[in-house]
This record gives sequence, C-alpha cells and structure tokens, in this order.
Amino acid sequence: MILLANSEAWPGINQSAEALARGENGLDALVEGISRVEREVTVRSVGYGGWPNMLGVMEFDAGVMDGNTRETGAVGALRDVIPAAQVAREVMRRLPHTLLTGDGARRFALEIGLKPEETLIEDSRKVWWERLEKELSPEDLKRFPELPLASLSRSVTDPERVRDTTVFLGQDKAGGIHSATSTSGWAWKYPGRLGDSPIAGAGFYADSRYGAAACTHTGEMTVRCGTARTVVLAMKLGYSLADAVKLAIDELAELKGGFLAGVVLHAIDAHGNHEVVNFRCPGEIAYWIWQPSMSAPERHMAKIIK
Ligand code: GLY
Repeated sequence: MILLANSEAWPGINQSAEALARGENGLDALVEGISRVEREVTVRSVGYGGWPNMLGVMEFDAGVMDGNTRETGAVGALRDVIPAAQVAREVMRRLPHTLLTGDGARRFALEIGLKPEETLIEDSRKVWWERLEKELSPEDLKRFPELPLASLSRSVTDPERVRDTTVFLGQDKAGGIHSATSTSGWAWKYPGRLGDSPIAGAGFYADSRYGAAACTHTGEMTVRCGTARTVVLAMKLGYSLADAVKLAIDELAELKGGFLAGVVLHAIDAHGNHEVVNFRCPGEIAYWIWQPSMSAPERHMAKIIK
C-alpha cells in the first residue's frame, strides 16, 4: 500500500491514509481525503478557498481514475457544488460518459443529491475585483463584463500563486492503484477554461498493473504532452518509475511556443516506489507520502529539475 499526495493535501491526507489502512476501496479513500481539501478554506487553489475565473465565478475541475478497470470520470467548469471529486467519481460510476462540463455537470451534481451553495468566499471576491481594478481603465471597469476578455487573459493571471491543484494517488490493500484530482484552476482564467485536472492522461492516470501519475501547476503543458499517461505507458514498456518520470519531464522540456511555465509531476509504481519532481516551479515544493510502515503521512520535498 502507498498514498502519495501534493502539498495542498494536508486537510485530508490523514483520512485517506486511515481509510487505506482499514482496507477500504482505494478510490473511495482518495475521494474522502480530497473532499476535505475542497472544504478547507485556507487551501487557496482548490474548492472553497480557490480563486474565481475572470468574471468572478468559481469553476471547479476534478477527475478520478480506477486503475483496476481504467474507468475514469471527470467534471469541468462545475459551478456552485463541491466536492467536485465526488461528482467526478459518480460520473464514472453512474453514467456511460467520462467527462461532464458546465451546466450538465451542475445538473448531474444536484441529481446525485449534492446541494448548491455559495462557493466564492469574500476574500477571493475582494482580491479578484482589486486585480481587475488594477488591469482595467475606469471606462472599462464601468462596462465590465461587457467587454472582450481575451486581452485580459494573459495580464491578470498571477503566475505561480494560483495554478495549483490537489492530487492524490494510492494503492490499496487489494493492489488497486487509483488517482484523483481537484482544482479551481487558474485564478482569473477565461470562463470555461479547463486545465489538466479533469483530463485523463494529462493531469492524472492510473493502471493497477503498473502505477499512476498526476500533475499540478501548468495544465496547458501537460495537456499538450499527455504527461500522466506518458509515465504509466513508459512503465508498461519496461521503464523504471524514475526513468518513466524522466521521459515525461523530457517531453515537457521539449515543448516550444505556447504558454510555458512549471509542472510538478507525482507518480507511484505497483512496487511501492514513488517519485515527485518539480520541473521549473519556483521555490521548494513539498508532498505527502504514507506507507504502512509510517505511523502517519510524512512531508517530503520534491526533486528539482530545471
Ligand atoms: N494543473 C491545474 C490546472 O492547470 O488547472
């Protein structure tokens, strides 16, 4: 058994570890932990504490993958409802689809019994508006949002503070390897923008035969490279976990043009190994790891690759 999650996972990592230790289904254990992260207002990139889109509206993305069957479920640009990871899991379990977005995702969330609620906290609303006040002329502020937004999309995105996510990867007692992600996406993103967190193969992937991977930070890069799938496919082709992660990072490093920034890649294999690599994100990045030999999840630092 193993549980790996990124630094934002602290509100739920213990519950996920305890659920795995009790022998619960691994995917349910991950969603239980992620749901707590989504409800924690001090985590400023996921759920309640996250940042809104350019219009001041919260839009959540989440994805899950069951590595036993390679079934996946995801939601994108989900409004008014959390936990988004729980909705993603039910997309996988109840529908013949893999990804719901926008109004359809919201409708489905209510159908499965979740309640709509205010998900934009006052501090996020205030910071969002202050940022717009800095970017827009007084005339444009007056007519906002009745103005083209595209030109704002590069200027209002606050680089590293706001592009995080929470990702959980785990292998349960039965050997099932699963993944789950959740995010409010980039702060001040263009409305409707999806990152990698709801895109299987980019932001997350799991296959109980080999391992799992998930990414945080710049989804625009991992979508281009199919990063999480690259790691797991490389292991299928015989790469060690470390070499598979290196291959995926090399692919990111070879990208030219478009929006380029940092990515943190988290990965486990079916033999209890893990790798976390910080590719070009500023500063030190922590993560959480738990295995049955540990009394509680431990906080470690990611390897840095520039
Ligand atoms: N990795 C999170 C995002 O790009 O939305």
